[in-house]
Amino acid sequence: MPTNKHEALYNEACNYLTGGLSRNTVYRYPHPIYAAKASGCYVTDMEGVERIDFANNMAALIHGHAHPTIVEAVIEQLQKGTAYTTGTVPEIELAKHLNSRQNAFEIMRFVNSGTEAVMAMMKASRAYTGKPKIAKAEGAYHGTSNFAEVSQAPNPDNWGDIDSPNSVAHVHGTPQGLLDNVVIFPFNDIKRTLAILDRHAKDIACVMLDPVPHRVGLCRADDAYIEALYHWTRKNNALLVFDEVVTFRVSYGGGQESYKVKPDMTALGKIIGGGFPVGALCGREDVMKVLDPRQPKIPFPHSGTFSANPITMTAGLTAMKLFDREAVKKLNALTDIAVKQIREAIKLSGVPASVTGAGSMFRIHLRPNPPTTYREAYRTPDRLALIQELLDYMLYEEKIMFINTLSCMLSTAITQKEVDRLSEGFYRALLNKKDKIMALQKNTY
Ligand SMILES: Cc1ncc(COP(=O)(O)O)c(C=O)c1O
Repeated sequence: MPTNKHEALYNEACNYLTGGLSRNTVYRYPHPIYAAKASGCYVTDMEGVERIDFANNMAALIHGHAHPTIVEAVIEQLQKGTAYTTGTVPEIELAKHLNSRQNAFEIMRFVNSGTEAVMAMMKASRAYTGKPKIAKAEGAYHGTSNFAEVSQAPNPDNWGDIDSPNSVAHVHGTPQGLLDNVVIFPFNDIKRTLAILDRHAKDIACVMLDPVPHRVGLCRADDAYIEALYHWTRKNNALLVFDEVVTFRVSYGGGQESYKVKPDMTALGKIIGGGFPVGALCGREDVMKVLDPRQPKIPFPHSGTFSANPITMTAGLTAMKLFDREAVKKLNALTDIAVKQIREAIKLSGVPASVTGAGSMFRIHLRPNPPTTYREAYRTPDRLALIQELLDYMLYEEKIMFINTLSCMLSTAITQKEVDRLSEGFYRALLNKKDKIMALQKNTY
């Protein structure tokens, strides 16, 4: 017999949903938890337990839950209808706002998820250049579309030589023809990356990069690296495209704001939907023209039933206006404090761990020096199991929600009080698992 409501709900869910879920990210052994309600940075589960939310629906909720201004704007729009077979004003307003934040977003198009935005970005690159191949960093997550997911999670048995990493299928049954059209390079490694790109130069449509790739280790791409990729793409009739689905939050104009050169196109998602499903493809006007229906032959015909629906657009516009320069600065400053406190907790505990991150995001690694590559950040099965123990300790004992990689993506609803609870709780978690973490260091990959 189930001992709590979550177990009972999960048992019921398993009768109707495969694995009892609609997304694997929320699974945890022996069953997931179920939310009843949330407000600001607190989520209350079905057992009435309240937790601090440092996951924010996988980095999507920049103002936490149920922000009153967003709720009010959405209710007003709900009463006017949720989706029409027409254009809407909120869609123009959100596009105008995003354009005002980043010059490189000359023109854009909205879709319903980050996955869709990245998929459209790859297709637009092919349509513009007439070339087939996508180049992406080893271990980088770009959503779940066919080409984007190649080598999303390779392991030491299949990743191959670092000078020529394998294109590793993520899903069983992926056709070889698809793998042959994805070129994998090691993140932040200029020499190797350029050598690999050169070997496929005549076929590469775009070099796709997340400027602070979460799964690679949450380290920022070096200026020199981005500039090298930019110049390589100029020379080789290819596009430089950024996946800023997560990193748009790091500064007012996104992760790209800090680089001298700008990408030709950018995929956005998460925070720009104000809590609703969203994606956007933004970029150079001449490149994005491949989608323009005002031409006899459209190189990339594109549509989507719920794309730019006025609920998402209204929520997104309200959220983005609230996330102004001042709010970005304040959130990043609070995150810096959180990182400092976590580093102190690590030092005090005597446990070998390190922190990486940028803007309002950080990730904790169970190794003394921060990783700089996917292969260094790679989590062996025993390491993964221990991370899960730490996550469970934080969730059940300290009542704090993390992202599964031991990462936090903050919202503007979080204050110093919650940051203190985070660092104090994490200190206790480290002490609790200290012996196991020390033992792990002996067999670091
Ligand atoms: C960098 C990056 N790109 C793309 C995606 C896909 O976005 P979505 O889950 O909205 O499809 C994600 C999702 O986590 C992401 O982290």
